[in-house]
Amino acid sequence: MTSTALRSRAWKLLELVTTPLLPSDYLDLVSPLRAGADLRGRIEAVHPETPDAATIVIRPGRGWRGHVAGQYVRIGVDVDGVRLWRAYSVTSPTSRSDGRITITVKAIPDGKVSNHLVRRVKPGTVIQLDQACGEFVLPAAKPAKVLYLTAGSGITPAMGMLRDTRFADVVMVHSAPRPEDVIFRNDLHDLVADKALRLVELHTDTHGMLDVARLEELVPDWAERETWACGPAGLLDAAEAHWAEHGIAAKLHTERFRPTVVVAGDGGEVTFGKTGKTVAADGATPLLSVGEEAGVLMPSGCRMGICFGCVTPLKSGAVRDLRTGEITEAEDGVLVQTCVSAAAGPCELER
Ligand SMILES: Cc1cc2nc3c(=O)[nH]c(=O)nc-3n(C[C@H](O)[C@H](O)[C@H](O)COP(=O)(O)OP(=O)(O)OC[C@H]3O[C@@H](n4cnc5c(N)ncnc54)[C@H](O)[C@@H]3O)c2cc1C
Ligand code: FES
Repeated sequence: MTSTALRSRAWKLLELVTTPLLPSDYLDLVSPLRAGADLRGRIEAVHPETPDAATIVIRPGRGWRGHVAGQYVRIGVDVDGVRLWRAYSVTSPTSRSDGRITITVKAIPDGKVSNHLVRRVKPGTVIQLDQACGEFVLPAAKPAKVLYLTAGSGITPAMGMLRDTRFADVVMVHSAPRPEDVIFRNDLHDLVADKALRLVELHTDTHGMLDVARLEELVPDWAERETWACGPAGLLDAAEAHWAEHGIAAKLHTERFRPTVVVAGDGGEVTFGKTGKTVAADGATPLLSVGEEAGVLMPSGCRMGICFGCVTPLKSGAVRDLRTGEITEAEDGVLVQTCVSAAAGPCELER
């Protein structure tokens, strides 16, 4: 018998004696980051950045394939006994020699995962990880002039890029309510001192929100620059309109942390067939949140319609896409993205 066949027989025997837990479950207890396990990471440190943001240092397990600057990683965290998945941009450089990665999280009011990570999680905690992904990255050929247009926690993917690649001519226009709310403020000022960055720091509590029409005054050659923008929907919508008006939409790259919801209609009763739960839902709440609130195990990822980590068969009824208003009706095998779909009348999901 070959050694592989022997290993597989021994494993099967182990499975028999360890039922209902599988051997992999026991191994996960002692060696969660081992090769062959589902990808996980161990939180090694939490460094406060501002009163409501922190950088989390993670040691990824053996299967981690690395990231490209600007990409995000989905993490699964247990909060009050429920596994919740969220996406966070990687803020460490790709060249970090100790193999650790960092994400930087801003706690938002009532945010389940962000508050848990910023205020409660302890070093040593094991989390689930997915491979890094996302298209908000630099091109292979370095642009001659770069602009980062960011606000609030939208600075995170830009910082990942800034830490990774130096440009001869790079400007950042960053907005935050007050100086003490600027995430990575010291690092940014160090880059400025090194002449590696020109920084325009705007404090919205005193200066008001950035009007993108003012860019001309802040960065006179803004239109010549390849631009990466990340921040609240209002800033990104205005930037997309501004770049389009000037016929240079292709020079603007944006990353959104949440979907722009344009339509809400009537809701309905949502049945989670496998779990056997039925709850009332309004027409604006994503079915993902409806399920999670009802204690149904819902798969998820980015929570904004880009990763398809939440797709679920719609067994009956109809749902509305919150981004477009489009209605999808149940028919054989139709899958819906629960993070951007709401009930449009009574419906049943296979969860
Ligand atoms: C590609 C990508 C990259 C991201 N990178 C980062 C990052 O680097 N740092 C970071 O802090 N966050 C980042 N996010 C946002 C992050 O994934 C979570 O959405 C955020 O932490 C809120 O999760 P929560 O569980 O705390 O809030 P939830 O409990 O899901 O929501 C609580 C309330 O806040 C609202 N809400 C949800 N998300 C946001 C938001 N982003 N801003 C304002 N209100 C919101 C909800 O509608 C709800 O009313 C990223 C998102 C995406 C899609
Ligand atoms: S969770 Fe990413 S598409 Fe729904």
